[in-house]
Amino acid sequence: MIQTKKISENIYNFRVIGYRDINFHGPIYKTDHGSSYNAYLVIDEQVTLIDTVEAEYSAEFLKVVEKVLDGRSIDNIIINHVEPDHSSSFIDVVQKYPNSKNFCSERAEKFMQNMFFNDVEYTTVKTGDTLSTGKYNFKFILTPFVHWPDNMVTYLEEEKILFSNDAFGNLTVSTKTFDDEFELVDLQNSSKEYYANIIMPCGRFVLKALKEIEDLQLEIKMICPSHGIIWRSFIPQIIENYKKWANFESKKDKVVIVYDTIWGNTELLTDDLGSELANLGLDVKVFRVSEYRPSLIMSEILDASAVIVGTGNFNGTMLPTIAGFIERMFALKPKNKIGAVYGSYGWAKTHLQRMKDRLVECEINVLDFDTSSNFNPDSENVEVTKQLASIIYEALGVDEE
Ligand code: FEO
Repeated sequence: MIQTKKISENIYNFRVIGYRDINFHGPIYKTDHGSSYNAYLVIDEQVTLIDTVEAEYSAEFLKVVEKVLDGRSIDNIIINHVEPDHSSSFIDVVQKYPNSKNFCSERAEKFMQNMFFNDVEYTTVKTGDTLSTGKYNFKFILTPFVHWPDNMVTYLEEEKILFSNDAFGNLTVSTKTFDDEFELVDLQNSSKEYYANIIMPCGRFVLKALKEIEDLQLEIKMICPSHGIIWRSFIPQIIENYKKWANFESKKDKVVIVYDTIWGNTELLTDDLGSELANLGLDVKVFRVSEYRPSLIMSEILDASAVIVGTGNFNGTMLPTIAGFIERMFALKPKNKIGAVYGSYGWAKTHLQRMKDRLVECEINVLDFDTSSNFNPDSENVEVTKQLASIIYEALGVDEE
């Protein structure tokens, strides 16, 4: 379903309430509530559409846009980002409104041509370029790698609105529109999960883009992202959050344990290790990877200081669920973490080194100490696990200034 909402005198928000879309970006990001996408229409002497929606919603999108247009046409389409959740219905829109002028970054033009459309003309823009539509002026700001090379944001000067595309987005599925209609903490959590799973590898580009926007001294009254709710009351808070996340500011005492097990022996080690760490006063979060959404675990890892990974030995290596999760960390690049490994084994203890090697590839600072058990943990294993907990605690430097 698509909700149409007038968010300012001449500006409409079309929100896909994607209650069916629990697999956001295919298998990358599973949600427990669906997903949401926004496009915006600005009515002036010229009519401007900012972003479109995923092709699955094309027909419905065209209908709701037509209703608002009330007989007018679309003069301009701004493509802030080419990823299909924002651009795959573009071809349907230009077929219906073939005289639209289409604005995007140079990289976006190339991507659009390669992904979808060879026979559409684009006007490429760079930071500082503007578009006047009558009484309104749009300013383009390129934000490459937040989170694809083609990304840009668009500022509507007279309304002081930043159309930020993926940046500042979240997957809140609601017919409520604005941030102040929610508890801030809920929005921070959903934005954090979105950041951890979509934006996290691009932290230094996020900081660069934020600085560039600050340097332009734009007064921002509203941030309209292409996912989730619109920011108008908590703008300083979400910008501050983005700075914190982009700098990988972590909680010194927060430890995330990710494990999986076949016959429960690694789970016994997990309980021992988790209890020891908790008894040392640490904030310990434990996830059996096959039973939780990986996107939720990634969100917890974003501001943790340690990632501890455990698995039983599966024919010489780790369990595939753990291997997949480590590969996910490789892709999403959480930084400033220490790591450690543990796990049970039967007749060969080869999995621990393999995990260490993979975690090193993820730029995790892996401790040179581990704990393991031959089948069930015995009292000696329990002692070594206690030692590992102490070593993790020391490495975190919780007691340091
Ligand atoms: Fe919401 Fe990068 O797409």
